Amino acid sequence: MLPRLAVLASGRGSNLQAVLDAIDRGRLAAEVVGVFSDRPQARALQRVHPSLRWSDDARTHARREDFDAALADAVASRQPDWVVCAGYLRILDDAFIARFRGRLLNIHPSLLPAYRGLRAHARAIEAGEREHGASIHFVSPELDAGAVVAQARVPLHAGDDAATLAARVLEVEHPLLVATLRLAVAGRIAERDDKALLDGHPLFTPLVLDSSGCLREHDP
Ligand code: GRF
Repeated sequence: MLPRLAVLASGRGSNLQAVLDAIDRGRLAAEVVGVFSDRPQARALQRVHPSLRWSDDARTHARREDFDAALADAVASRQPDWVVCAGYLRILDDAFIARFRGRLLNIHPSLLPAYRGLRAHARAIEAGEREHGASIHFVSPELDAGAVVAQARVPLHAGDDAATLAARVLEVEHPLLVATLRLAVAGRIAERDDKALLDGHPLFTPLVLDSSGCLREHDP
């Protein structure tokens, strides 16, 4: 049986599409078993068969815990091996994270630990950074603070604004996500004691995406 992926997404879903394309092209041996959204209008939902869609408008729930419990039950019912937040724009509550901890990944558009939270691109520009990028990390209760597995870097250009930089980062997000999921579904990454492991050994620095779309260990 193929490894089962549940994907959480709030919007466009281009990262989800990259995963679906990689599966179609035989580059990722996995199956997307559900796409879950806090926004029923999310374009991401349209990218999969209706039988794989779950959504509920988070704003109609008075309490965060109620929405996240319903979401968690829906995700669990699909028996995923990995749960991937790919442009999921809500904070997950502690109960959700505890339920899927160790198989819960998020893609964040910054070189973590820099620029956790919102407006990562704009803040990197404001700070005059020369480099920016994206990170895939295990989700832990503190926002965007879980163990980082892999990163991809892009340069900042003079005249960049948040939109041009976001577009450049997105281009590397897609291969970064696919390459990381290849490791995940092969059972090569894990989380232990707040650290990411590769092949059972702690990663002291995140893996780096190279120009051929492969992940390699960081050169000191
Ligand atoms: C990506 O930039 C991702 O890093 C961020 O939200 C964006 C989602 O894009 N968390 P998409 O919905 O996958 O197109």
